[in-house]
Amino acid sequence: MVVNQKQPFVVGLGGTLRVGSSTEHALRLCLSAVERHGGRTALFCGADIDLPMYNPHDQFRTDKAAALVTALRAADAVVVASPGYHGAISGLVKNALDYVEDLRGDPRAYLENTPWGCIGCAYGWQAAVGTLGQLRSIGHALRAWPTPLGVAINSTSAVFNDDGSLIDETVGAQLDLLAAQLIGGPGWVT
Ligand SMILES: Cc1cc2nc3c(=O)[nH]c(=O)nc-3n(C[C@H](O)[C@H](O)[C@H](O)COP(=O)(O)O)c2cc1C
Repeated sequence: MVVNQKQPFVVGLGGTLRVGSSTEHALRLCLSAVERHGGRTALFCGADIDLPMYNPHDQFRTDKAAALVTALRAADAVVVASPGYHGAISGLVKNALDYVEDLRGDPRAYLENTPWGCIGCAYGWQAAVGTLGQLRSIGHALRAWPTPLGVAINSTSAVFNDDGSLIDETVGAQLDLLAAQLIGGPGWVT
């Protein structure tokens, strides 16, 4: 049995600006599962990631942008949840991820060797799975390691209650396994 020397710190980033976002519900549930598995978490969703367009030539960072970069720098694992907008990751989430560029010169460049979980949410499998694939590609570009399991959610079916609690237990089980894989638990074996 592997014993963690410390509680892994998992950063969750994503959701939409819509109140009651299903993407945010999924992200919150995944982070709750991380905590059940013994990890610590920080959530950046909604207004937290409503950041100025990333400008590589402007060193100024708003407080919200600085908080995100600080958390990502400290992260032992990252989980990203995006809606499928027009078949792709949303601009909101992509812009927030562009701030990872601030980690380029760190001793751990970008998110090198960092577990990277992905959740894609859309009104159909095509956009949900396509978005999931794009998130995994972004993780590769950032030198992170996408977890074996990614979670695609078709939000046309009854997945969440309005309060974010779960209806679809299969989705819940997937989010739980994703959480286990993020912190290197027994879920690595799929
Ligand atoms: C601007 C916009 C574009 C969208 N494009 C698609 C799409 O191409 N395919 C699809 O299946 N769903 C699409 N959707 C639906 C979202 O993917 C869906 O609402 C998803 O559950 C995420 O939204 P939520 O987190 O706000 O609930 C779109 C929604 C918006 C607002």
